[in-house]
Amino acid sequence: MASDPTAEQHRAHLAERGVSSAAATQVVPMPVSFDLNGKPVDIAAPPMRRLIDVLREDLGLMGTKEGCGEGECGACTVLLDDMPVNACLVPIAHCDGARVVTIEGVANEGVLHPVQAAFAKHGGAQCGICTPGMVVTAAWMVDHHVPAQLIRRVLAGNICRCTGYQAIVESVQAAIAAEQARNGGDEGGQGPGRPG
Ligand code: FES
Ligand code: FES
Repeated sequence: MASDPTAEQHRAHLAERGVSSAAATQVVPMPVSFDLNGKPVDIAAPPMRRLIDVLREDLGLMGTKEGCGEGECGACTVLLDDMPVNACLVPIAHCDGARVVTIEGVANEGVLHPVQAAFAKHGGAQCGICTPGMVVTAAWMVDHHVPAQLIRRVLAGNICRCTGYQAIVESVQAAIAAEQARNGGDEGGQGPGRPG
């Protein structure tokens, strides 16, 4: 990807001050274009800036939450090219040309995703810190027809400190059952596991 003149000036400025080329690469903004919740986004950001910071601080999408900040809790889960990832571990450079879906993009034109409706009905949220990540992962499960017996395994990367998980699991079970009923029966299948 070509550097813009501003980036080149920034790089030259750092070089004058003895900053190595490798170090400058970490901090000089690069253009990044991606699809965010169905809309094109063009930004300039240092390549190692975390996706969660771009979402929350640069783009104002505060739905994605930060818990641990080190890839353990899943509070920051978003979809990157249709796979759940921890946004606190993703450098924005990896998003160039990608599709990103956050909790703000899970509902469809104001209509709740079946998982969102089930969380509301079955008490799947308490403090709500884990909820955006839980819902993004669970919605991905429903959309990919992951069987209900894998709910706990797929949600293993999303930690909740409040609910004890039972209400969350029941919410996802209800959403899967509702989708199966809507689609006319049990869809079966093994379903994908959560990516590492
Ligand atoms: S904040 Fe990203 S995994 Fe915990
Ligand atoms: S609802 Fe509070 S951490 Fe899950």
